[in-house]
Amino acid sequence: MDHGKNEFTTNAALKARRDDALPVGLPSKSGIYVERAENAEFWDVEGKRYIDFIGGIGVLNVGHRHPKVVAAIKKQEDAFIHTCFGIAQYEVYVELAERLNGLAPGPTNKKTALFNSGAEAVENAVKFARRITGRPGVIAFEGAFHGRTLLTTTLTGKSKPYKVGFGPLVPAIFHAPYPDAYHGVSVRTCISSLEHTFKTAIPVEEVAAIIVEPVQGEGGFNPAPKEFLQHLRDLCDKNGIILIADEIQSGMGRTGKMFAFEHSGVEPDMVCAAKSIAAGLPLSALIGKADLMDKIAPGGMGSTYGGNPVACAAALAVLDIFEEENLLQRADIIGERIAASWRQLQAGPAKGRFGDVRQVGGMIAVECVKDGDASRPDGELAAKIQIEARERGVVLTTAGAYAQCLRCLTPLTIPDSVLEEGIKLFEESTIAALG
Ligand SMILES: Cc1ncc(COP(=O)(O)O)c(C=O)c1O
Repeated sequence: MDHGKNEFTTNAALKARRDDALPVGLPSKSGIYVERAENAEFWDVEGKRYIDFIGGIGVLNVGHRHPKVVAAIKKQEDAFIHTCFGIAQYEVYVELAERLNGLAPGPTNKKTALFNSGAEAVENAVKFARRITGRPGVIAFEGAFHGRTLLTTTLTGKSKPYKVGFGPLVPAIFHAPYPDAYHGVSVRTCISSLEHTFKTAIPVEEVAAIIVEPVQGEGGFNPAPKEFLQHLRDLCDKNGIILIADEIQSGMGRTGKMFAFEHSGVEPDMVCAAKSIAAGLPLSALIGKADLMDKIAPGGMGSTYGGNPVACAAALAVLDIFEEENLLQRADIIGERIAASWRQLQAGPAKGRFGDVRQVGGMIAVECVKDGDASRPDGELAAKIQIEARERGVVLTTAGAYAQCLRCLTPLTIPDSVLEEGIKLFEESTIAALG
């Protein structure tokens, strides 16, 4: 049977087949069926071109099909594609672990285990923290997103659509407020809420781990202030708790540092990385302090596909590209350029409707509100702009508790001309959506 593209294929025809063959629960609202992609652009099956302002949700920091990634994949697949690291080992896994150990924040020696998805890295981090400390409790934060497995769904701090009806969820997980200056949630409030949690919900000596995104992704690109992360570090040190950084969206160079925790100078005990680690191949890493990682007995961790050699080869190419093309610096330049344009809209045509523009390196979000009021999120406006942008050929997505934010995670390799074109089309889309 020929599975090649039929020259009469349309987005609508593929959507009809999708609706027959796939469950409604899988997100696929855009209706764009992709035929090919290159750097920060892709084309659908009808030949329409899109500027990619979301990079597969933060997966494509080095763009679609970077030639060095493609060459590394081809070289590896010509040698071998899979052995299972537990059966026969290979150098690209070891080399990637060595490099990630050197890149993770802080001076303590690190060791790395590789898995397949972000959720799997988080699952393992929490599982190991429980084993290492012999304690059950985990503190996560409101607004967090950690994945869709049962444990990571439980850790996620947004109920609809992620949690509702999927219970009973995993026990001994508690949520505390996350600092959010725009909505008036101060670091001081968060610290006293944590103390309250220890008084009312779980004693601190029963807590194994605190898991935190240094910049919340799905939550709306909220950065945690340095003093908050410092407080978490002190709290963990004082009470024998493991501090887990979920850097799945914020890591791998997205914020202008290899890991966003570096902005704070705080060293977490474990770091979860995924998304842009391997330019689109499924791979995740759990990078932890060596003495902690070695507390899990042989056979206590592993995965059939985890650390697949083709994905490792792609990840090594990604790290080379970051160095060769100065992508950390580029993250700041791109982020500042987009944020400047969105702030101009905020001061002009979108006055009172763009409540807040947030930017950390190449993570940029704008929060839509009604009448300039932070407590009146406007998910409808965000959705309208998203649709107008898609029609004009720019793809980005929403975030935030009410899907009231638009977020941009464009490839850091985007050429200036494409970036400027995308910015202009976004401006036009905003004006059209404001009607
Ligand atoms: C911060 C964060 N953690 C975890 C995950 C889950 O990663 P995955 O979808 O690869 O399981 C995501 C995915 O969006 C994420 O943004």
